Amino acid sequence: MNITSNISLKPYNTFGMDVTAKYFAAVKSVEDIQDVLLDPVCINHEKIILGGGSNVLFTSNIEALIIKNEIPGIELLNQDEEHVYIKVGAGVNWHQFVMYCIENNYSGVENLALIPGNIGASPMQNIGAYGVEIKDVFHSLEAVSMQDKNLVTFHHKDCAFDYRESVFKNKYKNQFIITSVTYRLNKTPHYNISYGAIGAELEKMNVQDVSIQSIAKAVMNIRTSKLPDPKIIGNAGSFFKNPEISSTHFNNLKKYFPDIVGYSKSDDTVKVAAGWLIEQCGWKGYREGDAGCYDKQSLVLVNYGHAKGIDIFSLSEKIMESVHQKFDIFLHREVNIF
Ligand code: EPU
Repeated sequence: MNITSNISLKPYNTFGMDVTAKYFAAVKSVEDIQDVLLDPVCINHEKIILGGGSNVLFTSNIEALIIKNEIPGIELLNQDEEHVYIKVGAGVNWHQFVMYCIENNYSGVENLALIPGNIGASPMQNIGAYGVEIKDVFHSLEAVSMQDKNLVTFHHKDCAFDYRESVFKNKYKNQFIITSVTYRLNKTPHYNISYGAIGAELEKMNVQDVSIQSIAKAVMNIRTSKLPDPKIIGNAGSFFKNPEISSTHFNNLKKYFPDIVGYSKSDDTVKVAAGWLIEQCGWKGYREGDAGCYDKQSLVLVNYGHAKGIDIFSLSEKIMESVHQKFDIFLHREVNIF
């Protein structure tokens, strides 16, 4: 396996941070991963697994070995009357897979069109948008154990999926390299257009008969209208998670801020729209040098060109502090900081 030294990570992260990785290896198969894990450089250094680089913020040069997951392949494994089972390489671009499903009339991921990043990250943080999460179509995944180098299968129940969470971000953090994910998609579509913005967009598009194609188009329209394209403005999507607070806390806040946006998660917890909290603190559209809070969606922090990772990080700290001061709510970052 070829491990290169001192390479720029600028092409490999959507924030466009120009930091250097001391060691870098691109892997294209399970065997490549098993090979790399035997290399002395790998044995003697920390490892960072990189997919599409769309959920990371590099704040300094990286002394670790970057293992860039480029495992390809989309394979129809199996099917029954209702479902198809598609195995996808961890290095495949997520949206490319969504488009494959749309072209083949497999439903389940149309609401997740245009989410940046690769397949390998999708179960890791249980990606989600517009009322659907990856856990709704997840069947199983394969991953190489960094300890004994064996290929292990994880089923749905093993993954402990939650809002932007899984076992791979917690109990098994840095212990497995996901090599493929198998999704279970529907042959007969089950539409999910409960998210208000989708209904409104379908109406605007004048859609009479809803289809997975029209839903995907509506989602793409919404996303392109309010989320910055990382090819033009560096960003990593939502920088923070939507925080969950107690219903009591939410009801108290509602007395002072009647417009606060929240969705009941259970009888005693409410998920609050972090974008709303941040906007209320005056950050929407704020810019300090080349680091900023996006003017159409304040949950997204952006690099207008030459911001350093540390500038974005400092801005995130200030935002978290002011949200805490004003609402007594702690925001948590969704983006991984290195
Ligand atoms: N809002 C504001 N001001 C803002 C942004 C949002 O008031 O600057 C309010 C909106 O008016 C709306 C509510 O917050 O009432 C929710 O906004 P939106 O529908 O844009 O969704 P979000 O909660 O901000 C989440 C995901 C997004 C996903 C959208 C759509 C998280 C952290 N983010 O954002 O995911 O696309 O829902 O489902 O859960 C990502 O993870 O990178 C991402 C973009």
